[in-house]
Amino acid sequence: MSTQNSLNDLVKLFNLIEDYYEEGFHRRHSDVELAEQMAGPEDQFLEINNEISSCRKCGLFKERNNTVPGEGVINPLVMLIGEGPGADEDRTGKPFVGRAGKYLDSWLMAIDLDRRKNCFIGNIVKCRPPDNRDPLPEESSACLPYLQRQISFIRPKAIMTLGRIATQILTGEKSGIGALRGRIYSYQGIPLAPTYHPSAVLRNISLRASVWQDLQKLRSVLQNG
Ligand code: URA
Ligand code: SF4
Repeated sequence: MSTQNSLNDLVKLFNLIEDYYEEGFHRRHSDVELAEQMAGPEDQFLEINNEISSCRKCGLFKERNNTVPGEGVINPLVMLIGEGPGADEDRTGKPFVGRAGKYLDSWLMAIDLDRRKNCFIGNIVKCRPPDNRDPLPEESSACLPYLQRQISFIRPKAIMTLGRIATQILTGEKSGIGALRGRIYSYQGIPLAPTYHPSAVLRNISLRASVWQDLQKLRSVLQNG
C-alpha cells in the first residue's frame, strides 16, 4: 500500500467520522424536537392542573380541601363529565371515587370501557360545593374555561354528560335531564351523549333502563365514529 493510498483512506475515515457525528447530532436534535411535540399536550395539561390548584375565581375555593381537576388518559374514547366533587373527591383530589364513582365504573365496564385505560373523568366545577349543593350559575361559568381547555387538549372521541347540570351547560338547553337524554348532541365538534347522574340512579333504580339505552347510544357513536 502506497503512502498516498493510506493517506486517502485516512481522509475517508475522517469524513466518515465527521458524517457520523453530524448525523448523530441531527438525530439527537430531532429526537428532542419529537419529545417536545409529544410532551406538548401533557405539559399544557399539567399547566391547567396547576392553575386549578391555586384558583380563586369563584367562592368555592374557600371550603375546598383539594381541587379535583379530573383524571384519565389523553385522547380517550370517552370523557365523562359530572357536576362537582363530593366529600370523597374533595378529600382525595380524585374524581368519582365514592359510591357514585364505583357505580359509574360498572356502567363503563358494561360497554367495555375502563377509566384507567380509555376514559377521562372530570367535572363542571373543580371544587366541592358545600353540602353537595348544585353549583351556582356563576360558579359553573367561572370554572367552565378550565373544562373547555381540558377538552381541547384531551380530544375525546365522545363526551358523556352525567346529570342535569353538566348536560344543560354543555348543550345550552334548559329542559330537565329526562327530556334532554336519549339524543346525541355536539360540543366543540365532539359527539355528546347525556345520561342521568349515577347518584340519581342509586336513589331511583327505575332510571337504570334509560341509562342502559344511553350507554348503547354511546357505544354506537364510538363504533361508527
Ligand atoms: N359526583 C360528581 O358529580 N362528581 C364527582 O366527582 C363525584 C360525585
Ligand atoms: Fe376556581 Fe373552579 Fe374552584 Fe371556582 S370551582 S375556585 S372557578 S377551580
